[in-house]
Amino acid sequence: MTVNDRQILVTSALPYANGPIHIGHLVEYIQTDIWARFQRLRGHRCIYVCADDAHGTPIMLRAEREGVSPDALIARMAEDHQRDFADFGIHFDSYYSTHSPENKTLAGLIYERLQAGGHIATRTIRQAFDEKKGMFLPDRFVRGGCPRCGAPDQYGDSCEACGATYSPTELVNPVSALSGDPPVERETEHFFVKLGDFEPMLRQWTRAGHVQDEIAHKLDEWFTAGLQDWDISRDAPYFGFPIPGQKDKYFYVWLDAPIGYMASFMNLCARREDLDFEAFWGPDSEAELYHFIGKDIAYFHTLFWPAQLHAGGFRLPTAVFCHGFLTVDGLKMSKSRGTFISARNYLDHLGPEYLRYYFAAKLGAGIDDIDLSLADFVQRVNADLVGKLVNIASRCAGFIHRLGGGKLSGALSEPELYARFLGRGEEVVAPAFEGREYGRAIREVMALADVANQYIDEKKPWVMAKETGREAEVQAVCTMGLNLFRVLMTYLKPVLPATAARAEAFLDAGPLDWRAIGEPLTGRAIKPFEPLLTRIDMDKVEQMVEDAKEPEAAPAPTGPLVEDPIGAEIAFQDFAKVDLRVARIEAASLVEGADKLLRLTLDIGGETRNVFAGIRGAYNPQDLEGRLTVMVANLAPRKMRFGVSEGMVLAAGPGGADLWILSPDEGAEPGMRIK
Ligand code: 2FM
Ligand code: ZN
Repeated sequence: MTVNDRQILVTSALPYANGPIHIGHLVEYIQTDIWARFQRLRGHRCIYVCADDAHGTPIMLRAEREGVSPDALIARMAEDHQRDFADFGIHFDSYYSTHSPENKTLAGLIYERLQAGGHIATRTIRQAFDEKKGMFLPDRFVRGGCPRCGAPDQYGDSCEACGATYSPTELVNPVSALSGDPPVERETEHFFVKLGDFEPMLRQWTRAGHVQDEIAHKLDEWFTAGLQDWDISRDAPYFGFPIPGQKDKYFYVWLDAPIGYMASFMNLCARREDLDFEAFWGPDSEAELYHFIGKDIAYFHTLFWPAQLHAGGFRLPTAVFCHGFLTVDGLKMSKSRGTFISARNYLDHLGPEYLRYYFAAKLGAGIDDIDLSLADFVQRVNADLVGKLVNIASRCAGFIHRLGGGKLSGALSEPELYARFLGRGEEVVAPAFEGREYGRAIREVMALADVANQYIDEKKPWVMAKETGREAEVQAVCTMGLNLFRVLMTYLKPVLPATAARAEAFLDAGPLDWRAIGEPLTGRAIKPFEPLLTRIDMDKVEQMVEDAKEPEAAPAPTGPLVEDPIGAEIAFQDFAKVDLRVARIEAASLVEGADKLLRLTLDIGGETRNVFAGIRGAYNPQDLEGRLTVMVANLAPRKMRFGVSEGMVLAAGPGGADLWILSPDEGAEPGMRIK
């Protein structure tokens, strides 16, 4: 097999369909996308698949809270996620959902084969049950005092104050996070994968170079601690796939999540004749399969997943690549500090390629966390991309147009310099990308950019340009400069695809391709130079952080929304600051744990707001849906225990059942401003 015959399938972890993509997620999608683009640029076939991870209790409960079906929620999330990814230049060959027919079939098949192999055990377990909600509670939905340090209001599985891990039954005064009532314990039958059955295979596989050294060490600890049976079932109500042949039992979300990689690829095969499912997933597959994941989900991908694949009769991954977490200015991302930055908020202020570049510059092959230092981000992007890389082209392009008639010279004046750039590409840059040492690749490219700039500094084309008769020399220097720029831009194309596309338009010689740079560009016309990238302005970064700030959780409002008039006079200018809008109540639903609130989804003319209103005593949610009302649209968002309230609905009355929301007359439209 020659290197160009490589058939590669890569995946990133499937994001949960219950929240937006944020910059922490993006480390991985950017890392994977760069790798996939690098492989394609080198002439290999590299397919990149992903999907939304659509199942599980949190998604079911969020849909319920929003008063929509889980299907509607995951459809909306899928759209948002894909828009965010596309706008960050992340190219998937297939982006699918785990809630799909292919995934159902494959999950059923793997389960059947696990069962046929005798690898499924059933056991009765005792689990917390919320009698008011009529459902078993996942550990995270039981809260109470930490049994070790006594900290109040901790999750059922671990304490955020002291780090202790325990089971929900050990909590002091436990309550259900859904109803607020103390849970009872109930027995239920669960299904388990006997992971120990696979221990010899897993020991061998995990020690054969398929995982990073740090992960192999962690695996040794897990083997020493002993492999526990894996609970793969959940009781109804649950949003997921029913277990075939069972009543009210569902597959746990993590059973079908990684199978979603296969399902996404299978769906792609149905759309593309040149792809064959067996050739990539069959037991004799010669294709390469790589999973990019965060280190927190290594256990699932290096133990459960290979066991599932093995029992299912499929091939095992060529490698699982783990990365670390993202910190911002050295700390965990935080909503109150404004560093929990959503993909959309970032894009509202800054170009995607800045972040792609910065993450690339910081990424290595290991599992260390990476830090986004905001000041360093601005400084580095401006210095490297604008000050070094783009500078080479902008210094040379003008002279080619002014003195060279817009055409490059017929030959390179310094072929050794050019050859040196090609040599470093093969010896350093390509192996660094291949080995996920992106930081090293970037350092090398920037060192070469320094060399190119020094070359131009030494030749001083701007001095020669002033002397008559030296036009050809100027043209030769600038032809060299632009050819060096072309090589470097090709190396960075996986990191900066949009910038590379602008450079392609300017050089006017087709797509930049690693296999084509052996041949320099000579004797041909180029297009006028347009700025390829502009500097980042620190103000934009500060604005982004400001927009991401959410106040610390405030207590939920309990009384009626309209207090008794206080009689104080206000100036007209103060009144004019209140943005009152006609709003259509699109959805209304109850809020668990808050007996005075309703969650309202309000349409104010193309924009949707989520508002918690204290009107539950007066209205049934279903009676409100479709009605018009009036809201304060510019009230600062308020973080509550149940979510963020983005405004306020106006109502009158003493409270409780005696409360009336305002309704505009017929003819008013959502979004109209009240004057
Ligand atoms: O941890 C997570 O966000 C999971 N949704 C990742 C799933 S990856 C794969 F196994 F599906
Ligand atoms: Zn504790």
